[in-house]
Amino acid sequence: MGEQEGLKFYRCNTCGNLFFVMIDPDVRPTCCGNDMEILDHIHGSEGNEKHAPIIEINQNDTEVQVGLQLHPMAPEHRIEWIALTDGDRVEIQKLGLTTPPVVKFSKMSDKGRVRAYSFCNIHGLWQSEK
Ligand SMILES: [Fe+2]
Repeated sequence: MGEQEGLKFYRCNTCGNLFFVMIDPDVRPTCCGNDMEILDHIHGSEGNEKHAPIIEINQNDTEVQVGLQLHPMAPEHRIEWIALTDGDRVEIQKLGLTTPPVVKFSKMSDKGRVRAYSFCNIHGLWQSEK
């Protein structure tokens, strides 16, 4: 996979649709007649402690929490969804308007790298791996 390992996420700026690309990184999805916008992963330390997903692999599930300091959840500023993948499987959880950004996913394979993504409606897409 190109310069960016893991999943690529795209958003439709017209209808808000969300796509992810798992297999072919060169594919350019379209929606509502337009190319979709790729969501770039945010790098850097500013905002990291409220946005970077923290992955906890337990015996029977995998828990992801957004932010060492939990990200606020309010209609105007919130985490819209959290995704988790082990490379072979993807799970995405949409969050309610005020649901705390902590989600239990299935147990992920420990063969490879597990990656988590969180999407803030203001601060964009964040990724971490374990
Ligand atoms: Fe945010």
